[in-house]
Amino acid sequence: MISGLVRRLEGKVALITGGASGIGECTARSLHRHGAKVIIADVQDHLGSSVCKDLGPADCSFVHCDVTDESHVRDAVDAAVARHGKLDIMFNNAGILDLKKASIMDNERSDFERVLGMNTTGVFLGIKQAARVMVPARCGSIINTASVCSIFGGVATHAYTCSKHAVVGLTKSAAVELGLSGIRVNCVSPYLIKTPLTREFFNLEAEEGEAPPSIYSNLKGMEIMAQDIAEALVYLGSDESRYVSGHNLVIDGGFTILNTSLNIFG
Ligand SMILES: NC(=O)c1ccc[n+]([C@@H]2O[C@H](COP(=O)([O-])OP(=O)(O)OC[C@H]3O[C@@H](n4cnc5c(N)ncnc54)[C@H](O)[C@@H]3O)[C@@H](O)[C@H]2O)c1
Repeated sequence: MISGLVRRLEGKVALITGGASGIGECTARSLHRHGAKVIIADVQDHLGSSVCKDLGPADCSFVHCDVTDESHVRDAVDAAVARHGKLDIMFNNAGILDLKKASIMDNERSDFERVLGMNTTGVFLGIKQAARVMVPARCGSIINTASVCSIFGGVATHAYTCSKHAVVGLTKSAAVELGLSGIRVNCVSPYLIKTPLTREFFNLEAEEGEAPPSIYSNLKGMEIMAQDIAEALVYLGSDESRYVSGHNLVIDGGFTILNTSLNIFG
């Protein structure tokens, strides 16, 4: 409930790639609740437009944007500036998973490159185009979606793991350069959340009601939700995090700090 609470993003303008569904959609709703004007950039026109309709056309607009196409990303950034005069928050969130295959020897180069093209190059283009308008303004907050797969291997495919490790490297590298212009660059690394992206890959539908994905995390008694990531975005997008940059905010209930094979407590 926001009523009675301070709207922490009043007057801010946020662009969210992959904002039509899952984590991006939930974040769009939260940023909007906190007073931000939101632009959703996605390839799912119908879904993205319906989220905007829900939030109200004065506060939320949709732009068709394939993040692998630099002209689309540039146009999305320009649309935000044309509509609201500036860009304060860039959330480079769109991402894909490839098919689960038993061995690296079964992986096609084209699949590998497609995942990196989307998850890593897409983030690179988002940072670059956001920087184009943020550097002259000498402020802004760029947040990229990495994953617990940015910490270790074996949870998802080679391509996905590689792409998310790269997002962390890119975040640090961009933070170093853009910090000189007063711009912060951070990333978030969520644990497994039930969204269209993960349902099929992890067969979550079949597990529903039996074994929530949080059984593998350290923190018991609750299950991670997209809202947990949205809350982190409100913080990283707001002035409350004004001195936080180059950080990978892992939101995983302790999943990546625990080695279950040597756990003396459980
Ligand atoms: N769900 C999880 O468990 C989880 C965990 C860690 C990280 N992530 C990351 O979170 C991000 C969001 O994933 P999600 O789980 O919300 O999935 P999702 O499938 O619900 O949302 C992804 C969105 O990206 C959009 N998209 C796909 N290709 C695009 C393109 N070329 N250009 C623009 N938009 C495109 C889709 O239309 C969709 O709206 C991804 O980067 C994913 O890797 C998800």
